[in-house]
Amino acid sequence: MYIENIKLSNFRNYIEEEILLDKNINIFYGNNAQGKTNIIEAIYICSLGKSYRTSREKEIININNDKFAKVEMKYCKNDREGKIKLELSDKKLISINDIKVKKMSEVLGKINIVLFNPEDINIFREGPSKRRRILDVMISQLRPSYVYNLNMYSKTLEQRNNYLKQIKFENKSEEMLEIWESKLAEYAENINIYRKEFVKKIQEKIVDIHKKITDNREIIKIEYLSDFNNKEQFIKDLERNRKIDIIRGFTGKGIHRDDLKIYINNKELGIYGSQGQHRSSILSIKLSELEIIKDETDENPILLLDDFMSELDKIRRRNFLEDVKNTQVIITCTDKLELENENKKVFYVENRKSK
Ligand SMILES: Nc1ncnc2c1ncn2[C@@H]1O[C@H](COP(=O)(O)OP(=O)(O)OP(=O)(O)O)[C@@H](O)[C@H]1O
Ligand SMILES: [Mg+2]
Repeated sequence: MYIENIKLSNFRNYIEEEILLDKNINIFYGNNAQGKTNIIEAIYICSLGKSYRTSREKEIININNDKFAKVEMKYCKNDREGKIKLELSDKKLISINDIKVKKMSEVLGKINIVLFNPEDINIFREGPSKRRRILDVMISQLRPSYVYNLNMYSKTLEQRNNYLKQIKFENKSEEMLEIWESKLAEYAENINIYRKEFVKKIQEKIVDIHKKITDNREIIKIEYLSDFNNKEQFIKDLERNRKIDIIRGFTGKGIHRDDLKIYINNKELGIYGSQGQHRSSILSIKLSELEIIKDETDENPILLLDDFMSELDKIRRRNFLEDVKNTQVIITCTDKLELENENKKVFYVENRKSK
């Protein structure tokens, strides 16, 4: 699949802009702070319904035109054209082929993307939330019911947490917790099944991918860690933890604490990994994601490479782009990349203009 064009209005530093993309390689180059990543963000938000850079989406609206921001993308998938429009103002509106969606999640899976974000390089040194996010973004694009379960789990968790505080401060009865706990266990079970399924899929892909990247020097393993084993055990755990949860005012156990670990040659990446190993591991995860989406949808997802090619030397760049042939790639970089590939379009990004 590929995106044919993108129209931006009042989106970050763009006032009005239309960008016609190549089916294959698109390079956006220019100095810092010119609007390269903003283009990646626009594609991302139109594809997944929300930004990866901010949860305060008002920030996206151009600072001098603070009423609304708009992104419109025309794409081609299975030889059919489609159009997604996203408008941000006091509300967020998304329409697919000019029909407004009722739920934001309806947009998921229309345009499949894989993002290489330079900030992801350190996710195995940080807390687990960004690692869960990697899984969540991948699964959400492929399994609509995953998003439903995830949203319902979060809502129910919030309700249980609120009720924990009411027990503490208003002496409400503990018994009521049972309702939230059995609901939580139901959603957690579904989420856990999907997460296990997808970590297994990654594991099946990642070993060979990583061997190739590291010239056969490294064996990689990915592990999924969860408090959840089965519904009955989880309900018991929640019940057992009630007292401590009431004191703390939040739920200490659950799939909101799930984590991923990577081992390279049997050593945990987060503890023993070098900078290069962190970088190549995240690359291997992303390339596995690409393969998984390809297997599941019979289409190549769109690759968004923000400031990523500069990390690779000439040979690695060429190998990398060889590997992702027939895929639309959007690359940002500060220097004009010298690529031998024929099918490419180069845009110079400067002060709100992509030429
Ligand atoms: N809401 C907004 N309104 C106007 N300008 C904005 C808004 N949000 C961000 N910007 C501007 O966008 C620019 C940053 O754009 P972007 O992150 O795309 O830069 P970049 O070209 O990727 O730079 P780098 O090479 O440093 O990554 C900055 O100049 C910033 O001030
Ligand atoms: Mg940038």
